[in-house]
Amino acid sequence: MYAAFRSVGSYVPEKTLTNKDLEKMVDTSDEWITKRTGIKTRHIADENETTSDLGVKAAINALERARIEKSDIDMIICATISPDYLCMPSTACMIAKKLEIADIPAFDVSAACSGFIYALATAKSFIESGMAKNILIVGAEKLSSIVDYTDRTTCVLFGDGAGAAIISATENKEEAIIDINISSDGKYYDFLITPGCGTKNPCNEETIKKRLNFIKMKGNETFKVAVRTLSNDVIEIMKKNSIDSSKIDHFIPHQANYRILKAVADTLNIADEKIVLTVSKYGNTSSASIPMAMSDIYKEGKLKKGDLMLLDAFGGGFTWGSALVPFSPLH
Ligand code: UT7
Repeated sequence: MYAAFRSVGSYVPEKTLTNKDLEKMVDTSDEWITKRTGIKTRHIADENETTSDLGVKAAINALERARIEKSDIDMIICATISPDYLCMPSTACMIAKKLEIADIPAFDVSAACSGFIYALATAKSFIESGMAKNILIVGAEKLSSIVDYTDRTTCVLFGDGAGAAIISATENKEEAIIDINISSDGKYYDFLITPGCGTKNPCNEETIKKRLNFIKMKGNETFKVAVRTLSNDVIEIMKKNSIDSSKIDHFIPHQANYRILKAVADTLNIADEKIVLTVSKYGNTSSASIPMAMSDIYKEGKLKKGDLMLLDAFGGGFTWGSALVPFSPLH
């Protein structure tokens, strides 16, 4: 049995936060943000909207496009670093509850911005082992709830949103996901971290006062490791599968920073028109960024049956991953 990527969907909250808005909040400028990151605006969820609310809307979009009944879903995997609840229940369980799907496995994966590729690898393995047939994977983030809007080095980067995909069993190797590579190196754990409210720095007055419950990043150091690691990773997966860049129809990288993804695309010699870019309108939406970008090109009619997608991501942990995925809708 093989795993086929059947459908993708997304949800983008309505409210926006522009560089001009941020200029009024911290010591920054539209010029600095645009030049260093490529970001112009990000979307921010409503106060009473949770990560699972965003995930459910993306999931419904993916299910409708797949023309699959929700009763056919036999597993839900959610990748997120901004869960509805810190420890339990999982955001996947909240998504299952809101979709009214019960009696199936539902769990979260924690791999920061690489979360969608980790979820995809997990889904592929469950399908190839015969343990599931139709898996809903969701990358959903309400990062605005863990971003420190007094810290100019991080608050300009992140946004909210969700993407979802349906991965299904197939006997047809032609439509199967070709390969996925996932990896990590924990020695960089403190380069990108939310230091507070876990067992290391439990949630108390002191932790909150020091703002340790928010994302902290050594941006420049992270940038360098990201470019080096991602370039090596995508070169390796393409070499291993004897696929050169001319065969790639869409390069869909995690949207952290325009400069990072352009550097990786240049290493691979991928033509500009094949690079899917959403960072300017959504910012960095962590585990949601790849399916959101993919959903956008689907909506625009650019993602067609049989198109080959190259995905790559890098994030806290550090974690990283890449995938060679043909788009294989049933309809
Ligand atoms: O999604 C997971 C993976 N995430 C990433 O891969 C993100 C990786 N990092 C980055 O994208 C970039 O490093 C940043 C966009 C975060 C920062 O860009 P940079 O070119 O690496 O800048 P920098 O951190 O070296 O800072 C340069 C200067 C500093 O000032 P001094 O020390 O030169 O006076 C910063 O204080 O820019 C300053 N700065 C800002 N200035 C205006 C930092 N943030 C801002 C800001 N507005 N928002």
